[in-house]
Amino acid sequence: MRVFIAGIDGYLGWALAQYMTQQGHTVAGADALMRRQWVAEMDSYSAIPIANHEERMAAFEAEFGTNLDFRVGDLTDYDFVKTCLEDFQPDAIVHLAQMPSAPYSMLDNKHAVWTQVNNITTNLNILYAIKDVVPNAHLVKLGTMGEYGQPNVDIPEGFFDVEFNGRQDTLWFPRAAGSWYHQSKVHDSHNTYFTTKIWNLRATDIMQGVVFGTTYPEMNENPHLRTRLDFDQSFGTAINRFCAQAVVGHPLTLYGAGTMKRAFLPLRDSMRCLTLAVENPATAGEFRVFNQFAESYSIVELAYIVQSVGQEIGLDVQVKHYDNPRVEKEEHYYNPIRENLDRIGYVPTTDVKSEIKVMLKDLIQFKERIEAKKQLLVPDIRWDGSHQRSKELNLPETVQ
Ligand SMILES: NC(=O)c1ccc[n+]([C@@H]2O[C@H](COP(=O)([O-])OP(=O)(O)OC[C@H]3O[C@@H](n4cnc5c(N)ncnc54)[C@H](O)[C@@H]3O)[C@@H](O)[C@H]2O)c1
Repeated sequence: MRVFIAGIDGYLGWALAQYMTQQGHTVAGADALMRRQWVAEMDSYSAIPIANHEERMAAFEAEFGTNLDFRVGDLTDYDFVKTCLEDFQPDAIVHLAQMPSAPYSMLDNKHAVWTQVNNITTNLNILYAIKDVVPNAHLVKLGTMGEYGQPNVDIPEGFFDVEFNGRQDTLWFPRAAGSWYHQSKVHDSHNTYFTTKIWNLRATDIMQGVVFGTTYPEMNENPHLRTRLDFDQSFGTAINRFCAQAVVGHPLTLYGAGTMKRAFLPLRDSMRCLTLAVENPATAGEFRVFNQFAESYSIVELAYIVQSVGQEIGLDVQVKHYDNPRVEKEEHYYNPIRENLDRIGYVPTTDVKSEIKVMLKDLIQFKERIEAKKQLLVPDIRWDGSHQRSKELNLPETVQ
């Protein structure tokens, strides 16, 4: 299939371009290379050194024997989006091109507004360009499990059955996002659903859990083909950050009691699931929601898994509690349902310890790079708008 990846230079996008090419698909994509700037704005960099655009293009051609049609440009520019789709004529568009960090979006008014304008505009432009140029193409749109918030009931895949005042319907499950970034994703979900009704577009809205991992098994070792791995408070996701902290002997930074739960999946599963979604498209007018994760854990459980795997390979890993800079429930029910992906062939990777071991061994090679940015490991972006570094809390150890 011909697959256009919007956001192809990012953590998931660059890995996906290679994975899908290995699966026999013809890939093209676009990116404004902004993730590189956002991380630099946080005074950080990827723990794994990443190649520049030209080096990536040359390495891709050397590895796969084909030029990658990767256009550098801003997808908030409608003419650019339209031209990309006119030239490539994709069967599927995987839309990853958004600003993906909750803390970055909570920095201040400027970052909140920019996040929502950027994310909602790229999505609307892609929806319009599909309608105008390739109306049969299937949109695989990345949302996040964070759109649902922390409801005290099971989390269905997008819709649920409701009975009210004696009548029944299948309705949109309420979204209750916890940051300006997550709210932008909720708006996209609504907009995407709307276009399947008014224009008969076909769309899969992926409610993805938190991804972790430095690589997937078939990824080439060429350093110019490696994808990024961030560890700063904004762009480092939980397990990735914990592993970076573990290799430099910094305590793992649990926010509050750390008992809040999230859904997670390794990078290899994210690649597999996105490919399954592309290869099994939605029908015209269909809006599907996939809850995309392997397992859910509390953050404190994960911290102790990282600690025990670290000990196996000789790392002395401490776990400490810090006052929580976010506004979120720390004790809550959490039970997301995952059926749609299983139905089309997804078998989750459940051996999280082995994945974490691969990551730790990988990141040890880049210990000095992480150590040089050690001052960034404790968060200071707070949901109340202030900027104060979180202080250590004296809480008893909850899980071992
Ligand atoms: N990584 C995760 O754990 C995770 C979890 C759930 C959902 N997601 C979603 O998956 C998608 C990809 O995540 P990621 O971790 O690869 O993020 P990323 O920041 O590494 O990738 C996004 C890419 O999109 C590009 N981009 C953003 N706005 C653009 C614009 N206006 N024009 C052109 N390019 C633009 C960025 O430069 C970046 O390279 C995001 O939508 C994110 O919200 C990620």
